[in-house]
Amino acid sequence: MKISELSALEILDSRGRPTLEVSCMFDSGHEGYAQVPSGASTGRAEAYELRDNDPKRYRGLGCLKAVAHVKGEFRNQLVGESFSDQATLDQRLLDIDGTHNKSRLGANTILGISLAFARASAAAHKQALYEYFATLNGQSITTLPRLMVNLFSGGKHAGGQVALQDVLVVPGGAASIHRSLQDVVAVYNTATDQMLEDYEMRKLTADEGGLAPAFPNIDAMFKGAIRAINVAGLSGDVQLALDVAASHFYSDAGYILNGRDSINATEMIETMGAWAHQYPIVSIEDGLAEDDWSHWPQLTATLGERCLTLGDDLLCTNPERIQKAIDIKACNALLLKVNQIGTLTEALQALKLARRAGWHVTISARSGETEDNWLADLAVGWSADQIKVGSINQSERLAKYNRLLAIERDLERGVVSWPA
Ligand code: PGA
Ligand code: ZN
Repeated sequence: MKISELSALEILDSRGRPTLEVSCMFDSGHEGYAQVPSGASTGRAEAYELRDNDPKRYRGLGCLKAVAHVKGEFRNQLVGESFSDQATLDQRLLDIDGTHNKSRLGANTILGISLAFARASAAAHKQALYEYFATLNGQSITTLPRLMVNLFSGGKHAGGQVALQDVLVVPGGAASIHRSLQDVVAVYNTATDQMLEDYEMRKLTADEGGLAPAFPNIDAMFKGAIRAINVAGLSGDVQLALDVAASHFYSDAGYILNGRDSINATEMIETMGAWAHQYPIVSIEDGLAEDDWSHWPQLTATLGERCLTLGDDLLCTNPERIQKAIDIKACNALLLKVNQIGTLTEALQALKLARRAGWHVTISARSGETEDNWLADLAVGWSADQIKVGSINQSERLAKYNRLLAIERDLERGVVSWPA
């Protein structure tokens, strides 16, 4: 596959912040494009996201430098060159950047090229994008991922009215994507009605579409979720998942979970144990802070039989951090976000490491998303156990859900049997 053209455009993401769209063409005429997502509740070990830092444009968040790198240095080096596969292209991208965390040319720049090349390659091989990803992974697709969908939000995605970032619903009783969405929307609509009653407010949503009323405390979030599930008639069919995102309310003093007093890691684990005892919680993401390595094994030893202990900020889709977590039994599941690491090939290494350790894998969108739907193909093609895309009322999220529906129609596979 010989690259004949490479280009990029500064576009806007779901928060109205700039990001980039990259397009790649082969001399065969096949082409592909990709739009790049961006986080807000980011891990410190994520690869470097290049921004213009020009305060006169988009509060410094412009992506014109990234666009210029695609159209300049990368285009100059790559046009006319042939690549036999994704791994060779990705390695070349790393070599051109030449830094450990992609800080010279930007992980967002590099990911855009990696993904646009993937789409063009799928076209060249006459494959659907999910088939191309399955070929990269070397495994056939036997199941579709189960949904984890934001219902209520706090933390960095919702102005911090409560510390807990997300309460999500998992339609564990549904055997298909279309039934999963039907159940999730039923719970979401019921919860919306209740918010109006309980808080006398119209629907206020967070960055990923979760409802974000002025909850007085975390328990009100759980009680609201359970009531919505029950009123929707889905008790037993819909479970809960949490993204605690604990790094964002942690300091040297400890964890400020209730907005006032700090508690230590052992008390955090006890608190989460009590939640898991009281509510049907099947997954806890970032239950402890990204730097609290010494207590993660205690968290997984205590809760790992009952729930997934999922590492997002802790792992940053970074193979070195994942290997460390495997060695010390810090968690039992990987949250995979390709833009945390920057190329498809490195993300695939992360996936394979996690799989070899027997972990569950959730493939996740970011809070800043675009209308591009490649994530749905990735989650199916890489046989993720779960997909986390956000809620069901914003088009940048629905682009992925609607793509899953189309893939389900084409593939006729059932959803992973988890947590049942
Ligand atoms: P993000 O985080 O805002 O960095 O995308 C979402 C998450 O914590 O899973
Ligand atoms: Zn997270």
